Amino acid sequence: MHVLVTGGCGFIGSHQSVALLEAGHEVTIVDDLSNSKAAVLERIAKIAGKSATFVELNVRDTSKLTDVMTEGEIDSIIHFAAFKHVRESMERPVDYFANNIEGLTSVLQAATAAGVRRIVFSSSGSIYGDADELPIPETATPRPTNPYSRTKAFGERICADLCSSDPSFSITALRYFNPAGAHPSGHIGEDPTGLLSNLLPILMHVAVGNLAEVAIFGDDFDTPDGTGVRDYVHVMDVAESHLTALEKMSGEDGFNAYNIGRGEGVSVLQLISAVEKAAGVKIDRTVKERGAGDVASLFGDTRLAAQELGFSNYRTLEEICADAWRWQSQNPDGY
Ligand code: WQD
Repeated sequence: MHVLVTGGCGFIGSHQSVALLEAGHEVTIVDDLSNSKAAVLERIAKIAGKSATFVELNVRDTSKLTDVMTEGEIDSIIHFAAFKHVRESMERPVDYFANNIEGLTSVLQAATAAGVRRIVFSSSGSIYGDADELPIPETATPRPTNPYSRTKAFGERICADLCSSDPSFSITALRYFNPAGAHPSGHIGEDPTGLLSNLLPILMHVAVGNLAEVAIFGDDFDTPDGTGVRDYVHVMDVAESHLTALEKMSGEDGFNAYNIGRGEGVSVLQLISAVEKAAGVKIDRTVKERGAGDVASLFGDTRLAAQELGFSNYRTLEEICADAWRWQSQNPDGY
């Protein structure tokens, strides 16, 4: 297949592009480089042994995006391009809705015009918010607690409504929890150009000496050790799950949604310990107040993807930390 990867220079998108190329697919990346660097393209080629085509554009440029799909004879799309920081979204809600929702509707309009009918949508486990049951099943009612996760919950509704109106579409939403880690080669990894906000990259910057300490956002949550609990899932598992979902599509599948994650909750303190073990360093920390929009625990029931997609063989937390450390120690200042 010729797959269009929006946001393909980003953290997940770059790992996705490697997985697609290594599986023998042709890849075109579109990215506006607002939170990524074009330097990643040569790393992707180095790992995969072949290059992706790259077009610099913002996915809200529907006309140009349609041309890329038409001229490239795109068969399917994996849509990542979006802003993704929970706490930042509380400060910039309108920017998040404009970028994430308009970006998605533009991709869907371009796909409709260009005759592309197979799409995997990068959704998020954060749409569940403060769920009543843990681990959270796909049947749980989304109760997003911040603008970021509201853009993902509403984005799913938009995809589902399109599939209802036009049965020729197959759209699968993958609700992954906290992607983390890096490609085992150490050549690509998480390198946020803007806001350094996610926990694991912050811990890696402390471990490599770029930051003095980590601030723990709240230690009084209703969790075993009082700190926030999340489901950290290896970014290569996230990439491979999108590939699996795409290859499983037979056409006219309608809308489907699956949780992608290890199904195991890991606290901030537990992740700090895992990083200390992987990097062989002591991580200094302080406790601060809770992050706006944060929930105590978020981890998913991932049996449906195992049953329906045959996707279940996840990498361990130790592999996540070892691969993240290899990337960070080989690239202390990113790309
Ligand atoms: C994890 C935990 C924080 C930073 C995620 C990501 C992204 C998105 C889903 C898919 C929380 C705590 C963090 C710090 C801390 N992916 N923390 N100190 O908030 O679950 O958001 O949503 O859609 O994976 O944006 O991830 O890594 O920012 O935080 O104590 O300096 O670590 O409170 O409990 P989060 P995160």
